[in-house]
Amino acid sequence: MSIEDLESVALAMVAPGKGIIAIDESTNTIKKRFEAVGIDNTEENRRAYRELLLTTPGLNEHISGAILYDETIRQSTKDGVPFTTLMKKNGIIPGIKVDKGPVPLAGFPGDVVTEGLDGLRERLQEYVKLGAQFAKWRAVINISEDNPSSTAIEANCHALARYAALCQEAGLVPMVEPEVIMDGDHSIEVSYEVHEAVLRSLFNALYEQNVMLEGTILKVSMVIPGKDADEQAEVEEVAEATVRVLKTTVPATLPGIVFLSGGQSDEQSTAHLNAMNRMGPHPWPLSFSYGRAMQQAALKLWSKDMKANYADAQKTVHARAKDNGLAALGQWSG
Ligand code: 13P
Repeated sequence: MSIEDLESVALAMVAPGKGIIAIDESTNTIKKRFEAVGIDNTEENRRAYRELLLTTPGLNEHISGAILYDETIRQSTKDGVPFTTLMKKNGIIPGIKVDKGPVPLAGFPGDVVTEGLDGLRERLQEYVKLGAQFAKWRAVINISEDNPSSTAIEANCHALARYAALCQEAGLVPMVEPEVIMDGDHSIEVSYEVHEAVLRSLFNALYEQNVMLEGTILKVSMVIPGKDADEQAEVEEVAEATVRVLKTTVPATLPGIVFLSGGQSDEQSTAHLNAMNRMGPHPWPLSFSYGRAMQQAALKLWSKDMKANYADAQKTVHARAKDNGLAALGQWSG
């Protein structure tokens, strides 16, 4: 695949007023989400839930793509239509999470590093055959008194760049995701400093590994105080700090930036994105790639009555997509 092809997929992912729905929870993560609302974590429930999300009427009005998990990309609707076939028919670009999750970084207590590079070239080839057009890798950066170490930042960014180069070789758009975790009582200033260090290291590593930025999407956390910080930040403050750190560190050749929700409420995640776009124009489209902030209301509703609430749960997904799509244009009015 040429760089032009990668670039056109990347641009379609951040088309005006559209964003991504992240439904790539690993079996362990979806277990936590299901348990919280009393759903059994069976393969059939996982399949049925992902079918509910992907068959939401009108989803493609505000959603350009969806990130799937290894199990999900192999699944089909109850009528036997492979999810990727259904998505392509509806104009939703299939993506796949390809990392194998974070493990403790030896020698650096509190820091983690994401694994999954071994055998990645072969796995990517299989995902291309299954219909994927982009692939996501998430690096986790924890904040505490002693974290993150510069070693953890470098190790994670090196892995992100290695995976991104392999993606482009395979014809997939890499969605590089450094997530600075919101847990802790750190201030917004500390969050800013950590984001700045991580993004500088990331774009340096991408350059060192010959990754073509024109065919790459950045998925990143917002600059926000820790969940337990005494002083929380206003919407405008989060938006201003996030845009500032991105402008300082992210080259303008990147086709687009999307945000994760990371534990923010539905309302917060939409308000922050909207405020950032109101401050535009920016060098790149700023959109969303939310997991929890797209799904949590729908999952709750579905868990109460899987049959009777099916259509209402889908309406909730559509409403979240619509609000976030408007926020991606700076046109959300609350
Ligand atoms: P959240 O929006 O729930 O943080 O999930 C997005 C995601 O893909 C995290 O890797």
